[in-house]
Amino acid sequence: MTLDARARGDFPILTRVVNGHPIVYLDSAASSQKPRTVIEAMTQYYERSHANVHRSIHTLGEEATELYEIARDRVQRFIGARHRQEIVFTRGTTDGINIVAESVAPTLRAGDEIVITEMEHHSNVIPWQIAARGREVAIRSIPVTGEGTLDLEAFRRLLTPRTRLVAFTHISNVLGTISPVAAIVAEARRVGALTLVDGAQAAPHLPLDMSVLDCDFYAFSGHKMLGPTGIGVLYGRREVLEALEPSRGGGEMIKEVWTDRATWNDLPWRLEPGTPPIAEAVGLTAAIEYLEKLGMERVAEHEGALARQCVDLLAAVPGVTVYGPRGERGAVVSFSVAGLHPHDVAALLDAEGIAVRAGHHCAQPLMRRLGVVGTSRASFSVYSSSEEIALLGHAVGALQSAL
Ligand SMILES: Cc1ncc(COP(=O)(O)O)c(C=O)c1O
Repeated sequence: MTLDARARGDFPILTRVVNGHPIVYLDSAASSQKPRTVIEAMTQYYERSHANVHRSIHTLGEEATELYEIARDRVQRFIGARHRQEIVFTRGTTDGINIVAESVAPTLRAGDEIVITEMEHHSNVIPWQIAARGREVAIRSIPVTGEGTLDLEAFRRLLTPRTRLVAFTHISNVLGTISPVAAIVAEARRVGALTLVDGAQAAPHLPLDMSVLDCDFYAFSGHKMLGPTGIGVLYGRREVLEALEPSRGGGEMIKEVWTDRATWNDLPWRLEPGTPPIAEAVGLTAAIEYLEKLGMERVAEHEGALARQCVDLLAAVPGVTVYGPRGERGAVVSFSVAGLHPHDVAALLDAEGIAVRAGHHCAQPLMRRLGVVGTSRASFSVYSSSEEIALLGHAVGALQSAL
């Protein structure tokens, strides 16, 4: 049985009919749909166990705290982190990267350098620009080759003893390129730089093992991996997190407070000020359990096969350009249709019930590199099927006649 045949019935939204057609949802990289177990876990939490965490000495408060901390254990196991203190709950990938950037910023000195790449999502560009602002810190960027991969030779030349941090995506949300994380981390470490990996597109797609990737920080979002919006994870190596001065203050992140000073709580709570996303953590637990039941190896295999099928089908359509590597890639395929604006492509496909994303995908530097204003993008999840890719191929083929 294919993975989508096993999974599809678990996603209530996929019974929707859109513009007279059963929905073909090919926008999972923007946000995935949710299985019933995630929706029900959150409803049950609100109906039976909701209270605030870490502060209430009563039954509901203890239940909520336990559920919240169980989510941390599940995430730790899911990503192969050594310690539960290394898992910080955030609002999403963007939030996680900002937390690191805000904490690193005051330690930057004039002449320091930050290395990013030409294929970053704006979430992994702007926080570094803000951190560098007014500090005479240069931002350098690893170029993307004609094949859509990172130019590692150029990367080596960019590294200097002043490189403080290298921030890069695990999987490009436009090209689907999978970065050689461990190799980049090893190079960065040789010059003493910290590493931050944007895992927004990888966590839903690949088995993860932090002990193998060996990066200092890894950020991802719950809503792209079958979980709810409003929660994400920032993994940080314990030694590195210990040394990170919190940049955000409030309840829960302190031990003792005077009016003019305070001492910090232990990790990870030191980096989680205020009431956290509790119901969302419960939903994330259910999402991880769902993915683990399917098996992440199988998920990667399924989505990888769909991506290859999609590349082959679209590349064979006259007038269609497909971007990114031809071999192994993540669960996204960006393309353009000659003579049609990406927004028009998306609107015409929507009329057929097919949901794709169109635009610059929050990656304007990459659009500039590709020489386009935007692209259309199909992206896949566990419930996506080979039949849906065929429908997309057919619909894109028919677009030429719309010209
Ligand atoms: C590669 C990448 N990084 C970061 C983000 C931002 O994720 P979020 O909006 O969940 O913070 C996205 C979302 O599209 C992404 O694809």
